[in-house]
Amino acid sequence: MSDHPTGSLNAVPVAPGRVPVLGHTVSLLRKRFGFTRSLAPLGDVVKIQLGPLPSYVVTRADLVHQVLVTQAAAFDKGIMFDRFRPFFGNGIAMSNGPFHDSQRRLVQPAFHVNRIAGYTGTMCRTAQELADSWRAGQVVEFDQAMQELAGNIVCGTLFTTELGDAVTAEVRRSLPLVIKQGMVRALSPAALTRLPIPVNRQFDQAIARLRQVVQAVITEGRDRPADRPDVLSMLLAARDSDTGTTMTDDQVYDEVVTLLTGGIETAALALSWFFHEIARHPDIRRRWHSELDTVLNGRPPAHSDVPNLSYTSAVVREVLRRYPIWLLMRRANTSVRLDDVTLPPGTEVTISPDALHHDSRYFPDPDRFDPDRFAPGSPPPARGAYVPFGDGARKCIGNHFALTEITLAAATIGARWDLIPLPGKTVRIKVTGAAYPSRLPMTVTPRVR
Ligand code: HEM
Repeated sequence: MSDHPTGSLNAVPVAPGRVPVLGHTVSLLRKRFGFTRSLAPLGDVVKIQLGPLPSYVVTRADLVHQVLVTQAAAFDKGIMFDRFRPFFGNGIAMSNGPFHDSQRRLVQPAFHVNRIAGYTGTMCRTAQELADSWRAGQVVEFDQAMQELAGNIVCGTLFTTELGDAVTAEVRRSLPLVIKQGMVRALSPAALTRLPIPVNRQFDQAIARLRQVVQAVITEGRDRPADRPDVLSMLLAARDSDTGTTMTDDQVYDEVVTLLTGGIETAALALSWFFHEIARHPDIRRRWHSELDTVLNGRPPAHSDVPNLSYTSAVVREVLRRYPIWLLMRRANTSVRLDDVTLPPGTEVTISPDALHHDSRYFPDPDRFDPDRFAPGSPPPARGAYVPFGDGARKCIGNHFALTEITLAAATIGARWDLIPLPGKTVRIKVTGAAYPSRLPMTVTPRVR
C-alpha cells in the first residue's frame, strides 16, 4: 500500500529500471517498445523519468481518450516538442493554443477529404512509375523504394515546380537522418545534443540544407502567384478568416517542414510493412490478390476504386495497428483529473500507441496479424485503444491523405507485382520514433492472375 493519498502523483507507480541522472532514458532507448509495453500491468498511469523530468504514461484506453479528446484543451504538446521546435519550427504539429488553432484552420483546407481526390492522380502516377521501373527477377531494397515513393508523392502534391524537384532530392538525402536523430535528441538530456560530435554536426547541416531548398521554393511560389493545384500554393494563399492576413514566409516554411517530416516516413513505413505482412501470410495474400483482380481486372487503380478496395483497407488498418508511432506526448496546461489521479499544471504525459495496440485487453492475440479485425461490420476498437493517427483536435491532418495514398500505392504495385522476400533474410524491427524494418530486400515477381 502506498503512504500517499489517493489522487496524489506520488501514489503513481514508478516504472522499474531507473538509473541516476538519465532516469529511464536508457531503458527507453534500449528496450523501446519492450519498455513501454511492459507498463500497463503496473497501473493505469505509470511514472517514468526522462533524465531529470518525470512523465506519466497513460496506459488505459478510456483515459487516453480523455487526454486526446474529451479533456484535450487541458493539454499542450509536451517536452518532446519543446526539443523538436528549435529545428522543426513551430508548425501545427509543434504549436499550441490559439496559434495552433488558427494555423490548423489555414492548413486544413489543403487536406480536406474533398481535396484528396485531386491528389490521387499524383499518387497513382508516382506509384505506377515505380512499378514500371522494375523488371521481373530484380531484387529491390523495398523499404528504401517506399521511402522514395512516399517522398515523391508528398513532394509532388506540395510543390509542382522544377525547384520542387530540388526539395524532393534534398528530402531524400536528409530527412531520414533528421527524423531519427530528432527523436534521439528529444529523449536525451539537452547537453548531449550540443556536443561537437559528427552526428550532431551532420544533423545541423541536414537541417540547414533543407531550410535553404524549402525557402527557395517558397520565394519562387510568392513570385509566381497561385495558379497551381499544389499544397504550397494553397498555404501561400490561405487567409485567416478573422484577421484576413496570410502566413509569413517563416510560417509557411514551418508548415512545409512539418508536412515533410510528418507525411513521408510514416506512410513509407506503412507501405513497407504492408508488403512484408502480405508476403508472410499466404492466405491474406490470396484474399488481397483476389480483391485486386475482382475490382481492377488488370487495370491500374484510380480514386473511384478506393471504396471498393475494402480488404486492402482492412490490411492497411491492421498494418497501422501492428506498426504505429511509438510515443505521443502532452503537457497539462491546467490541473486535470484522470480518474483518481490529479495532474498539476506542467505535468508531462506520455501515450504509446504501440503499447495500446499490443494490449490484449483491446486486441486479443495482439501479435497475430489479422486484417479481419477491421473487416466491414466488425465491432470498432475500444475508444482510445486504436490511435494510429492520434485523435481529437490534434488528430493527424494527413489521415485521409495517408489512407488513400497507401491504399492506391499498394494496389498499383500489387496489381502488377508480387514481392517475394529474399530467402534466409530475417527482418527485424528497429525502433526510433516508429518501427523500421532492419532491411527489406524483396524480389520483384510478375503476378499470376
Ligand atoms: C500512415 C501515415 C501517417 C501516420 C501513421 C501519422 C500519424 C500521426 C499522428 C499519430 C499524429 C498525432 C500526433 C500527436 O497527437 O501528438 C499526426 C499528426 C500530424 N500529421 Fe500525420 N501521420 C501520417 C501521415 C501524414 C501525412 C501524409 C501528413 C501530411 C502530408 C501528415 C501530417 C501531420 C500533421 C501536420 C500533424 C499535426 C496535426 C496537429 O497537431 O494539428 N501525417 N500524424
